[in-house]
Amino acid sequence: MPHINFTTDLLDFIARAPTTFHAVSSASEILADRGFVEIHESAPWQPLPPGSYFIRRNDSSLIAMTLTDEKPSLTGLRMAGAHTDSPGLKLKPIPGRINHSYLQFGVEVYGGALLAPWFDRDLSLAGRVSWQDKDGAAADSLIDFRRPIGIIPSLAIHLDREVNKNRSINKQTDLVPIVMLMDKDQLPDLNIILLEQLVRQYPAIRPTAITDHELFFYDSQPPAFVGLQNEFIAGSRLDNLLSCYALIQAMLDSRTRQNTLVVLNDHEETGSLSGTGARGPFLQSVLERLMPAAAERRCCLSRSLFISVDNAHGVHPNFANRHDQNHRPLLNHGPVIKHNANQHYATTSRTASYFRRLCQRAAVPVQDFVMRNDLACGETIGPITAGELGVAVVDVGVPSLAMHSIREMTGSRDGWYVYNALKEFFSFSGPDDGWPEPDRR
Ligand code: CO
Repeated sequence: MPHINFTTDLLDFIARAPTTFHAVSSASEILADRGFVEIHESAPWQPLPPGSYFIRRNDSSLIAMTLTDEKPSLTGLRMAGAHTDSPGLKLKPIPGRINHSYLQFGVEVYGGALLAPWFDRDLSLAGRVSWQDKDGAAADSLIDFRRPIGIIPSLAIHLDREVNKNRSINKQTDLVPIVMLMDKDQLPDLNIILLEQLVRQYPAIRPTAITDHELFFYDSQPPAFVGLQNEFIAGSRLDNLLSCYALIQAMLDSRTRQNTLVVLNDHEETGSLSGTGARGPFLQSVLERLMPAAAERRCCLSRSLFISVDNAHGVHPNFANRHDQNHRPLLNHGPVIKHNANQHYATTSRTASYFRRLCQRAAVPVQDFVMRNDLACGETIGPITAGELGVAVVDVGVPSLAMHSIREMTGSRDGWYVYNALKEFFSFSGPDDGWPEPDRR
């Protein structure tokens, strides 16, 4: 059962990636272990010899690519992307407050989080801190407390008898994690708490002050197989670290060497507009450096295809009427092609057809999704990338339940399925592939 090994490794990847920073760091390690060479945007890198490379921006987004000795303007680029970020609770700049002897840390809600599941979870804290040493030299490091340090307790039902009928959650007042019980009303110094954690993780460094932080609470319960026959996986950040992992592995395991590129963007959950998001210039600027001539770039993009991989909505047995009657994706029935007439997904008949045939070649089942007309459709990096680059895009993803909860759920086979479809995409070259074939369109 090869999908069990793949999915076990996937769960391990997710457990080690509580934040976007950790996800990009882990992905970089995997790539470097397999011979990908890191190149930096701050250095000149033209012309790049054939080989495999990766580039990080802000430690939270990443582009990996393999270049052959054939020009991308002639072959096109096999591109695919996913997002590294997930909704969650971000520590405020000055988070500490004491209420009735409890030390609490104020948080901002990041992205469209489903809030109720954040109560009564054993929360840990991770992210990036900036620090300086006694000489004033500055550096950044990733930290992760790796154990529960906070909790947001529910209010007892006896104190709110209506809670099961009509509950609303105030993001400012109801959702403040408790981290400590205090004897006196003297706020502990966050600087010292973070410095201690930093030194625990990196005994060789000598930081003297924390100068800023980007830290997120996360569920300390690791992801796991669930179900009488391990049919499911449950865990945080399946949207969209499952896709990030499948993309990286598919690229590494492709059978042949093609001109391929994978982009992992931050900030999808807030609309993608940032220096690292899909609405920002990261991918565009890498393509400009690979192919400085605009006409050459245009030739490449018109031959290329971009697969946007992001989790989809499987049908929920208790709420099946939230789906269109003919579009009810099932867990463990393969990746879902997402369609939307109003371009919230960038799939076209041509790109969907290509992906369907790709799945067939990879012996992977495939499903279709379209949102009900009376429910608002989500968005992905797919239409944004299509709009930025003018490249053909297909939006796909594994069916999932509880999207944007602190503990989401997918089938335990679907990551393996999408990995196999992507591996076929990155591997195949030949006249029957169906893409690129600009002359025959
Ligand atoms: Co997503």
